[in-house]
Amino acid sequence: PAQPRDRLRVAIQKSGRLGEPARELLASCGLTWRESRDKLFCYGESLPVDLLLVRDDDIPGLIADGVCDMGIVGRNVLVEHDLARRAQGRGADLTEWRQLGWGTCRLDVAIDEDQEWTGPEQLAGMRIATSYPHTLGRWLEEHGVDAEPVLLNGSVEIAPRLGQADVVCDLVSTGGTLRANQLKPVTTILHSEAVIAGPGHPLDDGRQEIADLLLRRLDGAVQLKE
Ligand code: PRP
Ligand code: ZN
Ligand code: MG
Repeated sequence: PAQPRDRLRVAIQKSGRLGEPARELLASCGLTWRESRDKLFCYGESLPVDLLLVRDDDIPGLIADGVCDMGIVGRNVLVEHDLARRAQGRGADLTEWRQLGWGTCRLDVAIDEDQEWTGPEQLAGMRIATSYPHTLGRWLEEHGVDAEPVLLNGSVEIAPRLGQADVVCDLVSTGGTLRANQLKPVTTILHSEAVIAGPGHPLDDGRQEIADLLLRRLDGAVQLKE
């Protein structure tokens, strides 16, 4: 059983596209912190809101396990978590509390830039490198395509050159990573943006009150930017 807590713990990405803007957004809500020596934990000074800096892929699990109370993460990561649970016959445990409108990206299938794209059926029998096997699997199923997702947690874009896969299914923001690897996006399987994720149920120990206060400030901060 979790220890009673009277501080809110927010998970954000340690590095990568969403980490810095997430921290700036929270700072614009008037939050200040004292950093731990390894900079992975930030102790909230102005409000009882602490930050945990982690890999984005770990954020849904941390919230689901109650280690963190909310997180700022790409929808792509949440959708994958949700589909993985469903594959185990379990229901959804997290929800999107807010959509933030930045950090937009697409989960795309990309093929060799010299290859022609004729449609999803072209992928039949192929090995597709991805960090999103369940999201890809759902799309393949919807299109009646039998292909083989190859799970890679990083450097997905070099898999075709290494002979690990025939094509990739990866996140595309500017498109620079794909171009640098002589790949081109051919079809989109998910649209994503940064969201605030939290449990599907209210928080205990008075933490919901802190969360509500933070969400009100976040809404104000987001509106100011518009
Ligand atoms: C994604 C993706 C690529 C990169 C693409 O990573 O895995 O590496 O962004 O961006 P580009 O189109 O602008 O080149 P992300 O930042 O989500 O971090 P992660 O893969 O480390 O989780
Ligand atoms: Zn990641
Ligand atoms: Mg990456």
